[in-house]
Amino acid sequence: MSAAAIVEERLAALGTRFTEAFAAAPNEQALRAEHAKLLGKKGELTAVLALMRDVPAEARPRIGALVNTFKEEVERAFEGRLAALGKEKLQAELAGRPHDISLPGRLSFGRGHPHPVLAVKDELLAIFGDLGFRSVPGPEIELEENNFTKLAFPPDHPATDMQDSFWFGPGVLLRTHTSNVQVREMSRAASEAAATGAPLRLAVVSAGAVYRRDDDVTHSPMFHQIEGFLVDEHVSLAELRGVLSAFAERLYGPGTPVRFRPSYFPFVEPGAEVDVGCVFCSVAAGTRAACRVCKGTGWLEIAGCGMVHPDVFRHTGIDPDRYTGFAFGMGIERIAMLRYGIPNIRLLFENDPRFLAQF
Ligand code: PHE
Repeated sequence: MSAAAIVEERLAALGTRFTEAFAAAPNEQALRAEHAKLLGKKGELTAVLALMRDVPAEARPRIGALVNTFKEEVERAFEGRLAALGKEKLQAELAGRPHDISLPGRLSFGRGHPHPVLAVKDELLAIFGDLGFRSVPGPEIELEENNFTKLAFPPDHPATDMQDSFWFGPGVLLRTHTSNVQVREMSRAASEAAATGAPLRLAVVSAGAVYRRDDDVTHSPMFHQIEGFLVDEHVSLAELRGVLSAFAERLYGPGTPVRFRPSYFPFVEPGAEVDVGCVFCSVAAGTRAACRVCKGTGWLEIAGCGMVHPDVFRHTGIDPDRYTGFAFGMGIERIAMLRYGIPNIRLLFENDPRFLAQF
């Protein structure tokens, strides 16, 4: 048999073999392995081509053309089988169990909760709400007039100093307390009463941010206050004491005592600091002397208060001979710090999740 005939015969045998092998390949990997076995460097076709040496020159073009056709057929069959396998795989995926998109994800985003300062603020507003006080908002950017002048601060009062307040320019500043709401609400109620002829009556609370040039472990340049005031005929110090006692019992439990210590604020007369009995220690249990919260005194200062000064009524258009009223104001961070034993006010504003997650 001539060399050319041998090559032809071998090619034909290979043709049958690869057709069967490709068709039987169960997946892409097996198919590629068969392809390499045939056309790779050490493949079966390479072995056949080695025989070309013995093919006489006049037969070579014909045999060469045969080889090329063979290679083309192999590639066509390979691509065809590859496409068929891809389609099979896709069909199997589509026919299989669907992906369960309701399964929980791998990442978990913890649920948020109110910041302790806002939680305490809402609690205080709710207590005064139950006592009949209506909550109103108030601006943080305020006129000097509403923050100081109409509250009867003398022009040279140290609180009005550039060192103690944040001024935007002449006459405008960040409010230093929530008492500005007294001025706004009393002025509004006075003009309403004048317009309608109805008697004036106010029972208002207002909570929000205030600003002072103060910065240490218990003071922050921005903090929050809650203000309350009541104006009517015949309001006396007794009502003020009653309201603050009811408040203390709601906040710290039944029987919590309240005491007033005389103090001075330009917009009240008389004025007082409000102390509540320390809820963190007790004489009976012998823990009082060592109590770090009340420093062994048994009392915690929580608010300033007093009877509305007649000058404030005059400045807001209310008749001081007909109406009286009381007012109080307290720091919300202080209440939160006492409650949770937080030693440094900055912890409340750094927003470290390791701290906030504890509430
Ligand atoms: N505004 C006062 C302060 O910030 C507190 C206060 C409010 C005192 C109302 C008396 C009456 O210190």
